[in-house]
Amino acid sequence: MPNDIVRRLPNHIEAGDHPYLQGAWTPLLEEVNATGLKLLEGRVPTDIDGVYLRNTQNPVFPALGRYHPFDGDGMLHMVSFRNGEVSYRNRFIATKGLGAELEAGQRLWAGLMEDPALSRRPGWGAHGGIKDASSTDVVVHAGKALTTYYQCGEGYRLDPLTLDQQGIPPWSPLDGISAHCKVDESTGELLFFNYSKHAPYMHYGVVDKDDRLVHYVPVPLPGPRLPHDMAYTQNYAILNDFPLFWDPELLKEGKHVVRFYPDMPSRFAIIPRRGGPQDIRWFEAKPTFVLHWLNAYEEGDEIVLDGYFQDEPMPRNYDGAPKGYERMMSYLDQYKMGTHLHRWRFNLKTGETTEQRLDDRILEFGMFNLRYATKPYRYAYSAVQVPGWFLFNGYVKHDLVSGESWQIQLPEGQYASEAPFAPRVNAKDEDDGYLVTFITNENTQRSEVLLIDSKRFADGPICRLELPHKLCSGTHSCWASGADIRDGLLSLPG
Ligand SMILES: [Fe+2]
Repeated sequence: MPNDIVRRLPNHIEAGDHPYLQGAWTPLLEEVNATGLKLLEGRVPTDIDGVYLRNTQNPVFPALGRYHPFDGDGMLHMVSFRNGEVSYRNRFIATKGLGAELEAGQRLWAGLMEDPALSRRPGWGAHGGIKDASSTDVVVHAGKALTTYYQCGEGYRLDPLTLDQQGIPPWSPLDGISAHCKVDESTGELLFFNYSKHAPYMHYGVVDKDDRLVHYVPVPLPGPRLPHDMAYTQNYAILNDFPLFWDPELLKEGKHVVRFYPDMPSRFAIIPRRGGPQDIRWFEAKPTFVLHWLNAYEEGDEIVLDGYFQDEPMPRNYDGAPKGYERMMSYLDQYKMGTHLHRWRFNLKTGETTEQRLDDRILEFGMFNLRYATKPYRYAYSAVQVPGWFLFNGYVKHDLVSGESWQIQLPEGQYASEAPFAPRVNAKDEDDGYLVTFITNENTQRSEVLLIDSKRFADGPICRLELPHKLCSGTHSCWASGADIRDGLLSLPG
């Protein structure tokens, strides 16, 4: 396999007994370009065209104090498919924080679990004083990959094929960009939000297909909140105010202690996509916290929203975790939080909300065919977690119309990524395409790219290709169609 090592950074990690600095969470410190990936199983289909991008967390200098895996420096991995040809490359995201630490030769920022006052430099984001690792999420908008950090960093752009660094978007607002901005493929628009510790506590914005910030409005909240994801329909954006937030009294003393307030409702802000704060309609629902949404769409007088309801947004500490990591391990365990596929319906005429659990299994990190975003859709794909660990070892495909579902379980020692849906070239219907994922294989100490044919979901992977190194596990990913990139739907003019 032609495999050029572009850079290898020195290892400053002392893993000790840290559960998220070893095994499938062993940080990767090299950057490579690779072509001619070794085929391990099946064949490479010729009817898949585009790039799979995934953001992972790899600490070059682990944070001051206790390390949380979300502190790790963002690394973008790209695998491209076209005419049966596959190539792979990966790059650290050239954040200001990583640049400063490399220059200083030491760690400069405290981690998420520590007092930001420990940091040796001013930082970024809603948490205050931490490093913007740009390591949470990635989308492709206006022809560029955009990586984001869930505590609201500045956002970084890279070429989606070469992974060349292209810096911070010129429109990045003062309060930053949260992870989970959305690209509406039908308009080419990017919808985003941010949140902070100062009033109005949240903003919502739109960047058009030509990369111009065309809308940026406050979404006033009663206080600082910790939203993680947003949703959108054809005419509305949906933002949220869940009763899980920093204790307001302790926050006055500079202490960031998250509490769940079960007597308060969940609140949903439904705002016209180009509307202002005066246009927001608030809906109330059962108290919970939701990390991730699936699709949302309008149906008659109602807005339908699918996502993952948490039964226990503030889980009990994890028994048996290394000292100091009991809470971290709990919050990384979907079985502790009880995450279930759930549907909310907001009636715009009556102002009422109705809700329904769609599956009793513990599921999260959902994906669907984004060409069906904002439309009544039929198929959703969720990841299955390894109990106790922020690792995936399977997927469930739901037919939301018939109620049927199919599950894939990976072999022991193989851990998957979030798996976006790649429509087949000239796809005929909604599930005509592939799920694309990386696997970290603890048995071989290598990683792989896997394709699952959605029409033959239960058959498991139809193609396995070996990567030149072992990826560290991470969080989010996306699929961008090659035709969309080349045709300029997602491209900047000029
Ligand atoms: Fe997320």
